[in-house]
Amino acid sequence: MSDKLPETIQELETPCMLVDIDRVKRNCQQMIDRCKEMGMELRPHMKTHKTIEGGVLMTNGTKRKIVVSTIDEAVFYADNGFEDILWGSPIVKERISGRLINLANKLEEFHVMVDSLQGLNGLLATPLNEGKQWSVFLEVDCGNGRTGCLWDSEEAIQIGKTADAAPNVKFQGLYTHCGNTYTPDTEAKVKVQQDTTERLVALKKRLAENGVECRVVGCGSTPSSSKPIEGMKTLTEMHPGNYIFYDYMQVLLNSCTFDDVACKVATTVVSHKPETNTIVVDCGWTAFGLDAPNEKFPQAVLGKAPVEGHPELILGRMTQELGKLTTASGKIDCSQYPLGSRLYFYPWHSCCTASLHKVYYVHSGDKIVGTWKPTNGW
Ligand SMILES: Cc1ncc(COP(=O)(O)O)c(C=O)c1O
Repeated sequence: MSDKLPETIQELETPCMLVDIDRVKRNCQQMIDRCKEMGMELRPHMKTHKTIEGGVLMTNGTKRKIVVSTIDEAVFYADNGFEDILWGSPIVKERISGRLINLANKLEEFHVMVDSLQGLNGLLATPLNEGKQWSVFLEVDCGNGRTGCLWDSEEAIQIGKTADAAPNVKFQGLYTHCGNTYTPDTEAKVKVQQDTTERLVALKKRLAENGVECRVVGCGSTPSSSKPIEGMKTLTEMHPGNYIFYDYMQVLLNSCTFDDVACKVATTVVSHKPETNTIVVDCGWTAFGLDAPNEKFPQAVLGKAPVEGHPELILGRMTQELGKLTTASGKIDCSQYPLGSRLYFYPWHSCCTASLHKVYYVHSGDKIVGTWKPTNGW
């Protein structure tokens, strides 16, 4: 392939990552409209795509109010004119680097997250330029059990009070990532949404009783924000990220349908192995990732990924550069998948798959309309 971009997706070298711009635009607009209807602010997470173009679409062109997962992303977006950036990962003293201090000094609004008094103390001991304060969110664990200070703990109140009283800190409020909404059981998901909302409101109230105001109270994963519950309107902000692309996992979580999945991996059939009932494609875990359905997803009958237009195929074992496909039942008819022909996989987890590609080929229908280049690193 020369440097010139081919006209259609069929002409691209494989494996490669395709992004359907029409679906991306629709996914972004739906989340913008949903937040507006709910009377909530949207602070989209950039971690899934890590591109400027995706960030512009998710922020409705404002380039304001985003979450990032790494300092690399924060610098990338700040250097490209984005503002009001929250680094959504717990601060500890050892993470307060020159890059972080530069961002806090340079941006109008740059926010960090703490989930421990020790982490907050690191910020208290680090002065910024004259007139600048650390803008701090308290990360709350409302039952997800990953990071975050427990919603009903005494430490949460201590962090709020200490941050609020510190001259070099501006306390913003609460942030929770409700990763426990990643369940295909709709009733269980709604219960998590209810608990998360109630727990955030309860903590906000306890902080208020201690003289600490929360201007912002945010929650939201893609499953939660794609199908929000009424009660979430009592919060101020949502911060989902994966919805820009969605993926097979989100289909099984009932966040979206297959028609919403906006990215896929293009592959080429490179070998026929009728004696083992397989065909082999040029996409292994370096282009697809190792994330795959676990026991939480008994419906994942299609293996690691559905193959577009071929419900009879199951993507099984992958090696570094190759993927093996077999049939759900009966003998594989290799003539249906000629050597050199194309197959397209919908990722199980688009954040994982996208992170492996240096370029995404953006298309409308079969026509290539451009490329997006993600940032990477930490
Ligand atoms: C801190 C934080 N906020 C928001 C999100 C976005 O959630 P989702 O990927 O479900 O959209 C994530 C995802 O991992 C996260 O870690």
